[in-house]
Amino acid sequence: MTHILCIGAGYVGGPTMAVIAKHCPQHRITVVDVNRQRIDAWNSDQLPIYEPGLKEVVEQARGRNLFFTADDIEQHIDQSEIIFVSVNTPTKSFGQGAGRAADLQYWEKTARQILENSTSPKIIIEKSTLPVRTAEAMAHILNTNPNGLHFDVLSNPEFLAEGNAIENLEHPDRVLIGGHDTPSAQAAVQTIVELYANWVPRDRIITTNLWSSELSKLVANAFLAQRISSINAISALCEKTGADVSEVAYAIGTDSRIGPKFLNASVGFGGSCFKKDILNLVYLCEQHNLPEVAEYWEQVLKINEYQGARFVANMVHAMFNTLAGKRIALFGAAFKANTSDTRESPALAVCRELLAEHADLALCDPYALENARQDLGALARKVTFELDPYRAADAAHAIAVLTEWADFAALDYQRIFQSMAHPAFIFDGRNILDHKALFEMGFNVYAVGKAPRLHFNDIGK
Ligand code: UDX
Ligand code: UDX
Repeated sequence: MTHILCIGAGYVGGPTMAVIAKHCPQHRITVVDVNRQRIDAWNSDQLPIYEPGLKEVVEQARGRNLFFTADDIEQHIDQSEIIFVSVNTPTKSFGQGAGRAADLQYWEKTARQILENSTSPKIIIEKSTLPVRTAEAMAHILNTNPNGLHFDVLSNPEFLAEGNAIENLEHPDRVLIGGHDTPSAQAAVQTIVELYANWVPRDRIITTNLWSSELSKLVANAFLAQRISSINAISALCEKTGADVSEVAYAIGTDSRIGPKFLNASVGFGGSCFKKDILNLVYLCEQHNLPEVAEYWEQVLKINEYQGARFVANMVHAMFNTLAGKRIALFGAAFKANTSDTRESPALAVCRELLAEHADLALCDPYALENARQDLGALARKVTFELDPYRAADAAHAIAVLTEWADFAALDYQRIFQSMAHPAFIFDGRNILDHKALFEMGFNVYAVGKAPRLHFNDIGK
């Protein structure tokens, strides 16, 4: 039996360890976190995050070979042979690199905590996304210890997408493990390969050098985000020319070199990773004196901000240039469907901009309202939080769809139309509704990258 520890019971650490525990009953997995409330939630029926299939996996392994605790972290460190570090690495908000670089204080603190509490050698695995060459710094901290203990630092970035985490962990496209080219590090890499080989086909387990692994995580997210910004940039052109962005995306996506995924035009991408990782990449390029490369990737973020701002500008313009005092139902707070996560959610960015227009907002989401309330802080008291979309839309002048929850496509829009103020507007920021049918019901319909369907010709001119 191997003792495996994970430090950080967040969106990544919790689900990843649950799936490892499920497939490796021969190992004992402990997940620790400084946040006791979060640990309590992991030990309850109300898990701290909503993720389809997660509860079943946790319930299967919890108490058997999966343990969540906020106690005796020091002792757990000492007892473990393998330690995954999955603490958060937010964008630095102060000092050098503020707004771009990763804030590594939690990572470094964790490395020192591991060092202070270890009496035996260990494999340390970076799960958190980190700037390239962080492992080197960590290895320096860990391996300059007075006891002569040796730590192998590996990189094993997580590619799971929220809302799909369990599926991604059960059937990953690939598992990436990076380690130095030393016998000790290579032996450590093999140990982790064997761990994943309990359920992942071996041809999907890629081993690389440490820096390639660290950089691949940033680059994967930058490429994914770049596709969305590319199609979103084209959506602006579609709205001007009468082309339909869904048709364009389909037409280009059938080219097998381009492929169909991640081509849905939207109000913008959100989530904890894309912005942070691209900023990280930009900072890295600047640090290595590659300003052209930095600027190239930064443009992916600029288009994303432009897309959200453009969405709100379209709303203001369409609704006779004033939203003051008008009730608007916002369908969606989560940064994407099937998650309660609101980090960097475009829905909340739109929410803030509409509040600046003095709109009267009813925010509706099946799982993310509590997180939204926290994220909005002082602004939350200006918003009505509504679980029921029919109540949110009651007497509203407009609906804006901001998260692609399937439930929002299945509502009775005839009923909604009748309960709204008229003329009634719908702004589909996710292109999930039947625009023709809505128009025929009487809505004025705006969708991303499509010509608006309007009942009077002079709106928006
Ligand atoms: C984290 C990183 O932010 C991301 O870069 C990486 O790719 C995966 O891991 P996530 O799991 O989404 O992502 O973060 P979060 O949900 O914030 O969880 C981190 C947890 O670490 C928190 O529960 C926090 O309390 C805990 N933590 C943080 C510690 O236990 N100790 C610390 O010193 C700091
Ligand atoms: C992403 C990566 O997909 C994952 O591999 C990595 O480990 C973490 O970052 P995640 O942030 O959970 O995962 O969500 P993802 O499904 O990538 O969506 C990110 C954002 O892009 C969401 O706001 C989503 O709504 C948006 N999106 C996605 C689009 O606007 N259009 C698309 O075609 C796809």
